[in-house]
Amino acid sequence: MQKLEKTPLIVDFVGGAVGHRFRAGEGRRQDLPKAAGFASGVTPQIVDATAGLGRDAFFLASLGARVTLVERSEVMHDLLAEGLERARAEGGRYAETVARMTLIHGESRILLPQLNPQVVLIDPMHPPRDKTALVKKEMRLIREIVGTDADSVELMEVALEAAQNRVVLKWPLRGEPMPGVRKPSYQILGKSTRYDVFVKAKIPETAA
Ligand SMILES: C[S@@+](CC[C@H](N)C(=O)[O-])C[C@H]1O[C@@H](n2cnc3c(N)ncnc32)[C@H](O)[C@@H]1O
Repeated sequence: MQKLEKTPLIVDFVGGAVGHRFRAGEGRRQDLPKAAGFASGVTPQIVDATAGLGRDAFFLASLGARVTLVERSEVMHDLLAEGLERARAEGGRYAETVARMTLIHGESRILLPQLNPQVVLIDPMHPPRDKTALVKKEMRLIREIVGTDADSVELMEVALEAAQNRVVLKWPLRGEPMPGVRKPSYQILGKSTRYDVFVKAKIPETAA
């Protein structure tokens, strides 16, 4: 396995695009929070079953959600833990956001049933669409560490069973539906990404 000190990848919630998005206060009307079930009076509890660089989880936690992040790659998990620690040390709203996040090193297919989540978010690595396509450098570095998530159909099946309220699959806009997985209740289409939303039950209103 690749050693942590050999990858130039860094998880940075304070500088760069994530920090900018955070300071700009982008809100609940974005595609991801809408897909995750944020609504007036409703702030879902979320398990991000494919934590990766933690960007989606950090965004959702910045909007008030409690987010449990599960990451199975030790290298990615350790990078993420360091990024969270730096954001915590920044204090203020960064620290408040991190306080709503719980990071677990483990396999979501095993952990999801015991986490009893309201909402599960799944954003697997997918195979490159075209070998000659220019893949973003960051994506290439992550792929060097974690490969492609060939077991994501199985993860979806476990998530659909374990989630109380809904499962959200983040997938390329024109990606094929996952074989054998039931049709989503609805889709939210973005520029290059789509969210397939599988509704099981209404998310209860959040106690004030
Ligand atoms: C595309 S990245 C997720 C990016 C993330 N949404 C973000 O905002 O940074 C996918 C990550 O999920 C992890 N992963 C995939 N399947 C998993 C599983 N069954 N359990 C735990 N982690 C998993 C991979 O190791 C990889 O780090």
